[in-house]
This record gives sequence, C-alpha cells and structure tokens, in this order.
Amino acid sequence: MQISFSAPSTTSGGALIVAALAGGAFTASAAEADRMAGGALKRALEVSRFSGKSGQSLEILAPSAVKASRIILVGLGAVEELDGLRAEQIAADVVARLLACGEKSVHFAIDRPRGLKLGDAELAAHLAMGVELRAYSFDKYRTRQLEERAATVKKVSIGTKDVAGARKIWREFAAVAEGICLARDLVNEPPNVLFPAEFARRTKKLTALGLKVEVLGAAQMKKLGFGALLGVAQGSAHEPQLVVMQWLGARNRKAPPIALVGKGVCFDSGGLSLKPAASMMGMKGDMGGAAAVTGTMHALAARKARVNAIGVIGLVENMPSGTAQRPDDVVTSLSGQTVEVLNTDAEGRLVLADALTYTQRRFKPRLLIDLATLTGAIMVSLGAEHAGLFANDDNLAAQLAQAGKQEGELVWRMPLSPNYDKLLKSKIADMKNIGSGPHAGAITAAQFLQRFITDKQSWAHLDIAGVAWQDGEQKSLAPSWGVGWGVRILNRLSKDHYEV
Ligand code: BES
Ligand code: MN
Ligand code: ZN
Repeated sequence: MQISFSAPSTTSGGALIVAALAGGAFTASAAEADRMAGGALKRALEVSRFSGKSGQSLEILAPSAVKASRIILVGLGAVEELDGLRAEQIAADVVARLLACGEKSVHFAIDRPRGLKLGDAELAAHLAMGVELRAYSFDKYRTRQLEERAATVKKVSIGTKDVAGARKIWREFAAVAEGICLARDLVNEPPNVLFPAEFARRTKKLTALGLKVEVLGAAQMKKLGFGALLGVAQGSAHEPQLVVMQWLGARNRKAPPIALVGKGVCFDSGGLSLKPAASMMGMKGDMGGAAAVTGTMHALAARKARVNAIGVIGLVENMPSGTAQRPDDVVTSLSGQTVEVLNTDAEGRLVLADALTYTQRRFKPRLLIDLATLTGAIMVSLGAEHAGLFANDDNLAAQLAQAGKQEGELVWRMPLSPNYDKLLKSKIADMKNIGSGPHAGAITAAQFLQRFITDKQSWAHLDIAGVAWQDGEQKSLAPSWGVGWGVRILNRLSKDHYEV
C-alpha cells in the first residue's frame, strides 16, 4: 500500500473520508462533500444513529454528481479526547472496512478541528500511522487467498494543510511502523521456520540500516560460561544463538547506552516438564520479547535516533529429548550463581539470566530493560490489557508508564521485595528456578531476574506474556495474532528521555 500526503480535496476519486464532531456537527470538508452530494449525507444522517462519537461512521454510495465512489463520514468525538492514538484508531477502522471491499484508493479529507491539541501535520501523520498498522497482514503461507479477502486498496492519500510537516513526521512514524511489523512477522512465523539460527539471520539484515550485529553460537557461549542458557537449549536439535545489536546514534558514540534484552524462546514445549497440548499451542510466540527488541532496534536505526542503544536477545528452543535438561539439574550461570532447575518449563528466566549478566558486564548500560513472555501468572493478574512492569528504579518505571500510555501499550507496576525473593531458596544451590507454591508466579520470576542485576544497575522487567499475541478479539491497530507489542513503548521512552 502506498501512503501519501496532499492538500485536502473533496473532488478525488475512490473513497472520500470526511468527519463530524461529537454532536454531529460537520467539519468544513464534510459540509462541502454534503453540498456536492445534494444533501445526501445530511439525509443519511437523519435516518441513522450517527452522532459524531469516535468509533461511529456513516457511509453513502456517492451520487453521480460526486467524483468519489463513496463518502464515509467518521465521528471524531469530543475534541478534548482526540489524541494521536484515537486518530490512529479512527483511520484504522475506516481502512479495515475498505481494505477488501473492492475499493482501490482512499482519500482522507479530515480537517483539523479547532482546539485540537495536535497540529495539522501531527494529525495527518497519525492518520497515516493508523492506516499503516491496520493494513498489516501475514499471508505468506496462504497459497489460496480467498478472492473476496484479498486487499484491493492500493493508494491512500491523507489531506492536510501542512504537507511538508506531515511528510517529515511520517518519516519517523514509518520507521516505527516498520519495526512493529518486523516484530509481528517474527512472532507470527511458525517455529519450524523461525528457529534460533534463522531468527539470527533475520537480525543480520538490520546491518543495512547501520546497525552492528554480532551472533554468538553454542561454542562461544560455552567458552564464556552461559551455563543457564545452554542448559535450556541442550534438548533441542537447533543450536542456540545470542544476538547483540548495536545502534550508536548519539553524538558521543562512547556515551553509556540504553540496553534492551529479550527472551527469544523460539518454541517452548516446556522441555521434560512438558506442557499439556492446549498450553503448548501458540508457544512459537515465546520469542515475543526478542521480537520487540529487534523491532525497536530497527525503528531506532531507521529513524536515525540520536541514542546509543544495545539490543541483546537469547535465542533457544526448549525441547524434551534424551539430551534435555532434567528437573533436578543444577546449572552454573554466567554470573557464577548456581540454579537448581526444578521445572524445565521455567526456562525464560534461565535464558535471560545469562543475557542480562552479559549485557551488564560488556556494556555497563545507563538503563536495562528486559522484555519476556515470562509467566502465565501475569495473565492471571492483568489479562491482555497491561504488561507487568517490575523495576528497581521509580524514575524509569514512571517514564515507562507514561510512554506506554501515550503509545497505547499499557503497563502496570508490580512489586518486588525481599520476602518474595525468599521463595526462591533452594535446598542445594544458590536458588531454584521456581517459587515455593502456586502463588505470586510473575513476581517470583521477576525476583529471579533481579538476582542477576547488579546493585547500581537501573533496571525494568516487562512481562509481556499477556500482550505479545492475541487469540480473542483483535485490537484495531493490531490486526494479526502477533501484536508487535513493545516497539512503541520503547521507541517512545528513547525519544522522550534518552535522545540528545
Ligand atoms: N513461556 C511461558 C509463559 C507463558 C505462558 C507465556 C502462557 C504465554 C502464555 C513460560 O516459559 C512458562 O512456561 N512459565 C511457567 C513458569 C512456571 C513453570 C513456574 C508458567 O507460567 O506456567
Ligand atoms: Mn516455559
Ligand atoms: Zn517460555
């Protein structure tokens, strides 16, 4: 799909999108379109429930005097409530209904209402973002696309009074959208295709954007002492990989970087602590943290962000086999601490432990954020609305909460404390990889990670098990199973606080 910006026009062909405010008052373009249509919009409105609320729309097939094929009147709602995210959702909803209905081109003639916080250029760029995110689909494995499902819309133009300004903002937004769609692709790929080496190969493509990408294999990790990560990987036919991505975009390339660490379990069968069949379904997405980190690195590099950022992802497959790690095994992590592995399905924390140690030792980052589809327990707490946020730094936690709100990737802070940490006591090693008893599963997982964070390191952990993919109703800005969650919040955090 091709997205462009132009002066607003009510005389374009294809679908014409115009807007009304809460209460039903037409904006100038809507009034103009109605006049051209001989009052057909107003008449349609009178026999409808349309009142201009955001989320509402009213469609008429255009009468012959109008060049457009159809006119869609969308509700913008109350001006005070119309922010960038709402604008994106409005555009996404419109595009969703037009995408496969035979329409080939769409023009948005949505005038900026008076009193709107967003400027003309911003409004236009957010509309474009909504279109782009909603137009995503993952169809590469369909050899027979249903005729009536094939997308027909090829061109979308966004009308704005500030074409140059909109193009400038859109360049940045488009970089972020690319990162999100990359993350979605990675999550959606089946696990027979996207095993660790293939994931690593895909990250190598980011070198085209100016990122440095290194890949460590099993032999190198063994030499360095990645005992926890390698224990998880040892039951699989696929070699584990550690990928280190570096984007040095700050004026001072030596300035301490922000570091992002992702859990990349390309498939989580549970290992010998095998998952039941129904719980194993979807476990191709257990690399959602790694996908978010990769997508964010793409976004930062593609928009040439003035930040030094490191992305580290631990890629493994967790499988049962004759060589698999056993419940009762004790492994020595890269940090030197020993772990009694009592449940091989609590594997993500083992992978992260070594990736976190490696990242801190090598890069001494100013802040460290890990993302992981770590526990089913976080879904019990927060469902699919919020990711769980754990942090040892109130400032970083507040920055993430704010960034998440703005970008529509909500987080909810959860506690850490010594009393939870006690639940990790092992009979024979420094710790065990599960808590004691069935409670506080997401917290004990976070406490486990914290044991691998040095005292002075500013750190946050995002448990994204509930938000990385979606089985039920799809979000209006995320039309596929893989959500691509994490790219927006991390990109926003960087942009608002760590770029110079
Ligand atoms: N990848 C899972 C967590 C998960 C579960 C993500 C459901 C998304 C949906 C993780 O590796 C896991 O299996 N965690 C266990 C931990 C337990 C054994 C302590 C869990 O949550 O049951
Ligand atoms: Mn598991
Ligand atoms: Zn897992």
